[in-house]
Amino acid sequence: QGRKLTVSGSIPGVLKDAWEKVKISDTYPGEEQIYQEDLRPQYHFTSRRGWLNDPNGLVYHDGNWHLFYQHNPYNHNWDNMTWGHAVSSDLFHWKERPAGLNPDAEGYMYSGSAVVAPKGSTTLPVKDESLVLAYTANGFLSYLPDHKAVQSVAYSEDGGKTFTKFKGNPVVPHVIAENRDPKIFWHEPSKHWVMPLYYDGPDYGIYVSKDMVKWEKTSDYKIPTDSECPDLFELPVDGDPNNTRWVAWGAQGKYMLGSFDGRTFKAESGPHQYYFGSAYAGQSYDNAPEKRRVHFGWMRDTGPGLNGAPFNLQMTLPMDFTLRTDSKGIRVHAEPSKEIEGLRQDTKEWKDLVVEPLSVDPLAEFEGGQFEIEAVIDASSSASEIGFKIFQDHLAVWKRADQTFTGANGPQSPVDGKIKIRLFVDTVSLEVFVNGTYTSRYIRQTAGTKPVRIVANGGEVKFDSLKIHRIKSAWK
Ligand code: FRU
Repeated sequence: QGRKLTVSGSIPGVLKDAWEKVKISDTYPGEEQIYQEDLRPQYHFTSRRGWLNDPNGLVYHDGNWHLFYQHNPYNHNWDNMTWGHAVSSDLFHWKERPAGLNPDAEGYMYSGSAVVAPKGSTTLPVKDESLVLAYTANGFLSYLPDHKAVQSVAYSEDGGKTFTKFKGNPVVPHVIAENRDPKIFWHEPSKHWVMPLYYDGPDYGIYVSKDMVKWEKTSDYKIPTDSECPDLFELPVDGDPNNTRWVAWGAQGKYMLGSFDGRTFKAESGPHQYYFGSAYAGQSYDNAPEKRRVHFGWMRDTGPGLNGAPFNLQMTLPMDFTLRTDSKGIRVHAEPSKEIEGLRQDTKEWKDLVVEPLSVDPLAEFEGGQFEIEAVIDASSSASEIGFKIFQDHLAVWKRADQTFTGANGPQSPVDGKIKIRLFVDTVSLEVFVNGTYTSRYIRQTAGTKPVRIVANGGEVKFDSLKIHRIKSAWK
């Protein structure tokens, strides 16, 4: 999986001391350069400094989206797991706050989730409407030799500025292997809290609690071929509130569809594949306004990461999930969250455009940087290969012969006779949504190569519409 969780040997003293001595502050040496570095994504979340992995504790509170994340504030590599913390009112402009959870005698602060506790719903010593975080304390490292991963809670009574770890931690003792990644949510019909928890291999358990302190195990479920980072949520099918399915989600973006009665998840179908490419360990907001199901993933890297940058790795775009019925059945469908529209500028648009192999490419003069392409392509176009080439090496191309999409979105039959592509380029990333599926990868914008070319091989491509938008920096 590109990154090993077992750490052998001892932690260098300097890192052990680091979380005592180094206070995360709003100012860093080289502060003026932050967000202007060569490799810095301009509309994806990155931490100001250091490593990041999984999004954690996604919760909406008081007009703010909170994004916590697995973070090593002191270095470029995975270590010292801390919950970084940032807030935004629009999912794109983030303000980093001091860390939410720091490692301590409980161990490293592994992935987990957050909720706003409704009135009277917890016996934790907190005021109503407090933020409550559920996390894994993992002390398997050599400095805590006999410690095994357990589940704990922490809370904030000041809207997420400061956090207190519950004195009675852990709330779920060690169960099995590296059990981890509690995703808590409130189940209104049962009037209790639910915690899907990762066990081992494809196995997950479900716990319930009336008070967030005493948890009872109710059942197990599996996401075959996936593991880690559960999410569990209900969505209407094709917008019909009387026909819903529960989605049991794993770190690789594989998911089971089924039912959930508050205690047991019963799978009906799956595993289905949603993510392709480098996305991993995503989770969604349970309490987003307008009943939206907004999801962030982590764009991990199998290569050297962003070597040379003072930060490492980025989140995916925020995306809104729905369930839609297509030729394969009911599937998770995603669109980039609508807030991206607030960052668009200099839009160029073509309607009923026909491009042939020898046509002048209307996108040829477009320069690199940050941009979005929206295309609705008529699938009856005669070309055998249709799509876009990004910085010479990266194809986002539909092949008529086998109806597959390079860039790994997999088989893609046209929907209502159309192929809909939305493609996003940021400083070091390419993300492609095709008919509601998603793929992502890291790229390098190489000087001298064309940022984008239309691919029309072996015939003509008919665009019902084609748009290209520049995307403004969220940092400036
Ligand atoms: C997923 C994961 C989680 C774990 C975290 C540790 O990427 O392995 O299962 O909690 O990363 O950083």
